[in-house]
Amino acid sequence: MKILIIGTGYVGATTAMVLAESGWEVTGLDVDAFKIERLRQGRLHFHEPSLEDLISKHVHSGRLLFTTDKETAIAEHDVIFICVGTPSQPDGNADLRYVQQAAEDIGYWMNDYKLVVTKSTVPVGTQEQIIAWIKAAQRKAYPFDVASNPEFLREGKAVEDALQPDRIVIGTDSASATEQLQKLYEVFQCPWIVTKPRTAELIKYASNAFLATKISYMNELARLCDELKINVKEVADGMGLDPRIGPSFLQAGLGYGGSCFPKDVSELVMTSRKHEVNLHILDQVMEVNRNQFTYLLDKARSRLGSFADKNIAVLGLAFKPNTDDIREAPALRMIQELLLEQAKVKLFDPVAKLPGHAAYEAVTVCALVEEALQDAEAIILCTEWTEFEQLDWENLKVLLGQANFFDGRNMMDARRMRGIGYYYQGIGNDY
Ligand code: UGA
Repeated sequence: MKILIIGTGYVGATTAMVLAESGWEVTGLDVDAFKIERLRQGRLHFHEPSLEDLISKHVHSGRLLFTTDKETAIAEHDVIFICVGTPSQPDGNADLRYVQQAAEDIGYWMNDYKLVVTKSTVPVGTQEQIIAWIKAAQRKAYPFDVASNPEFLREGKAVEDALQPDRIVIGTDSASATEQLQKLYEVFQCPWIVTKPRTAELIKYASNAFLATKISYMNELARLCDELKINVKEVADGMGLDPRIGPSFLQAGLGYGGSCFPKDVSELVMTSRKHEVNLHILDQVMEVNRNQFTYLLDKARSRLGSFADKNIAVLGLAFKPNTDDIREAPALRMIQELLLEQAKVKLFDPVAKLPGHAAYEAVTVCALVEEALQDAEAIILCTEWTEFEQLDWENLKVLLGQANFFDGRNMMDARRMRGIGYYYQGIGNDY
């Protein structure tokens, strides 16, 4: 089997790497010539730990190729993965234009049987549309199968998640598609779910929405913890030991961001509305998340009186550590609000960059943490990069105008920070 991956973002690039690592010949296809040129040199166009090394390894071994030539690529490969983006439209529905384009390209350029596998996160029922798009674009009625194979990778941990998946979900009506995918993934020793296409599509949304629900629940609970002088991290530890709950995704903070949770929760709500079912819980999950950053902002404002003309050091921009992705990052909303309230914002992130947008022109982007801290009247930590925890906070205090620390990710130990002289507030991170 020769495998083609359409779309070389973090899902496509990781899928290409993992299949090459499993011994298959893989080609990555993208319309973006810049990305393809970098990938051909074994270099990534985004930050994802260890992925570049593995891509480079397989580019050099010849098992991993990259191209912009869709005609040849589609004709020469048997199994085609669709890994393109499905961003949210302004009304909350998923924008399927890239999926449609990929399906139409496959239909138009196919010259023999193809197995088409969807890894992009697509709304329930999309597999039926993909079949229709392929058929409509075909110049000759070549046979093909379609399977939905949602991915569960986390940005920043994509390599680890891809090489040790906790499950493989296949949604297809074709026994031959299932057989081919079982062969393709035979090196993985994890549970398999082979099911109907719509079920596979919903498993992906239901999983992300459930994880988002855990986060919003903990974020609301953290507010109660603040009132009761209880540490939410200890509560999470206690809860997480119950195997029915599990320890992960119980970290209170500034809320979830990224390219997945916000758009997937919103799309699931839209799907439910189309079917006249109300997912009330998810409405609340989104509402809690939308306002979560203001909880910390309010704490900072009441300490400082106002933000006007005050130096504020924002630490962390990426929506989570170990990625340069800033999509839906709570830090962006935090910065926008600080600017609106006339704060002088100095920003440090080890990797992520601000968008080149006029709205952020007033922000001073710092190359060093120390620069951001110089004369700051408050520090607002938005992303839990490990290096922030390791800084010498006792000595760094001398740089500050006022030692006010607002920890949006509950990264620091409240007692320690207060012990060395900070006014410290987290999100339910008190004792
Ligand atoms: C998420 C899912 O975890 C993956 O399984 C899924 O494959 C992926 O979406 C996707 O659909 O492609 P990702 O968005 O990369 O992965 O990142 P997560 O680690 O899930 O974090 C999402 C957001 O939740 C981040 O902003 C993070 O800071 C926040 N979060 C996470 C919390 O606020 N608390 C937690 O306890 C965990």
